[in-house]
Amino acid sequence: MKLTLKIWRQKDARSKGKLVDYPIDGIEGDMSFLEMLDVLNEELNNKGEEPVEFDHDCREGICGTCSLQINGEPHGPDRLTTTCQLHMRKFKDGDTIYIEPFRATAFPVIKDLVVDRSAFDRIQQAGGFISVNTSGNTVDANAIPIPKQDADLAMDNATCIGCGACVAACKNASAMLFTSAKISQLALLPQGRIEAVERVENMVRQMDLEGFGNCTNTGACEVECPKGISLESIARMNREYMGAITKG
Ligand code: SF4
Ligand code: FES
Repeated sequence: MKLTLKIWRQKDARSKGKLVDYPIDGIEGDMSFLEMLDVLNEELNNKGEEPVEFDHDCREGICGTCSLQINGEPHGPDRLTTTCQLHMRKFKDGDTIYIEPFRATAFPVIKDLVVDRSAFDRIQQAGGFISVNTSGNTVDANAIPIPKQDADLAMDNATCIGCGACVAACKNASAMLFTSAKISQLALLPQGRIEAVERVENMVRQMDLEGFGNCTNTGACEVECPKGISLESIARMNREYMGAITKG
């Protein structure tokens, strides 16, 4: 395939960025989107030009770093698929592909396609954990019986990879799908109930402090989430929050 890539280039957080055209040839349908960018970067390197900076790590849909806006959609045109698992067969010979960083005030651009998503880390640090005494004997994992439905729901929420596509898809740049997944994975389990009140208060407060917008039930986050996190998680977080402030 012969393609035209229009890629966002930006020197650093303070510089102005712009879309730059890169024609590219010889792209195979079974290449991943990141492999296609590797080909481009090799060409740029060989020409003595600066390669395009983009985030990636596992390349198998686990780590959540490969966050790109492709033709206006976070992670591109496939549903339930991260950028690293998107294949070039989704595009046609002669296509023009726009590649941009995730856009949100709380995700400032570091360089080219790389954004700073440490706001998510700070939300997680505000309460996305349980406190366990690790001295003494290890507690048997099956010592607390948990209804299968709760275990399944907690597991569904635990699949959130913190990629930020929900924020990039949302017209309000809301982080409520991410935050609610991190709250839900613990709120649904007895081990997570002990600190549930402080958790939801602290994580929601941190989410607001980071400058993310609010949820207006548009649902774009759920559509673009590569892990299929449901809007029900946001409803659960809201219930947890209402319960917490009522108790508080
Ligand atoms: S909720 Fe989905 S889109 Fe948002 S960070 Fe988690 S995996 Fe990514
Ligand atoms: S590189 Fe890890 S999820 Fe894509």
